[in-house]
Amino acid sequence: MARTALVTGGTRGIGEAISNRLKADGFNVAATYAGNDEAAAKFTEDTGIKTYKWNVADYEESKAGIARVEAEVGPIDVVVANAGITRDAPFHKMTPDQWHQVIDTNLTGVFNTVHPVWPGMRERKFGRVIVISSINGQKGQFAQVNYAATKAGDLGIVKSLAQEGARAGITANAVCPGYIATEMVMAVPEKVRESIISQIPAGRLGEPEEIARCVAFLASDDAGFVNGSTISANGAQFFV
Ligand code: CAA
Repeated sequence: MARTALVTGGTRGIGEAISNRLKADGFNVAATYAGNDEAAAKFTEDTGIKTYKWNVADYEESKAGIARVEAEVGPIDVVVANAGITRDAPFHKMTPDQWHQVIDTNLTGVFNTVHPVWPGMRERKFGRVIVISSINGQKGQFAQVNYAATKAGDLGIVKSLAQEGARAGITANAVCPGYIATEMVMAVPEKVRESIISQIPAGRLGEPEEIARCVAFLASDDAGFVNGSTISANGAQFFV
């Protein structure tokens, strides 16, 4: 029977590529989004993938949304915590609001996404938790104290969940994308982006599909013994 996968932030950018790839691999996919109704409607029209709107920063909304997905699509076997935002500013200019928005969405959002699906995975003795971290959680980044903190936090989450879930047949892993050609990276000032690309030995930005392929592997039966690890896909920009 086809497994069910939930992808947060799954209608645009890297998340869209992940949703499409998992669907192509035979999963029943549900994709969440936070606000862009138009993009979500177009995504469903193009792909046939069901979308659900909730704010991952809100625990009760996440719990209720996940209950709906499980009732309408099926018990969640694979959860991809992908939803994330940036609020970049040099630290001396970063406001508490910019700090909290990013922590609430990118870090607490992972808790809110995984915690409601975890009991079902434990009961069914199968689960794949995949968290989309970032190169900037591994190396830090100018103007991203908030974002880098959340993405480094993701690595602590998967290493801990891996130990808790292993005996119940649940794996938890992270993917650390480098700079990928998405709206998030395109929003960086052009001069800064050019300088970033010049630091990537591959000489180019990554494609969302290149991250989706890493997720597809981690979601597959082949990856059953891969647990608590991090796949870096960054064109040789940074090694751990
Ligand atoms: N390293 C060193 N110095 C840098 C820098 C960097 N990466 N980026 C900017 N600076 C410097 C500028 O040269 C400038 O220096 P001077 O004052 O000497 O000219 C100074 O920092 C900028 O100061 P400002 O007060 O003008 O900064 P600002 O308030 O206008 O903020 C910014 C500008 C938000 C930092 C903007 O430059 C920016 O967005 N930078 C990109 C940050 C970045 O890389 N974000 C990653 C987004 S992609 C992503 O997050 C996805 C992922 O996972 C990889």
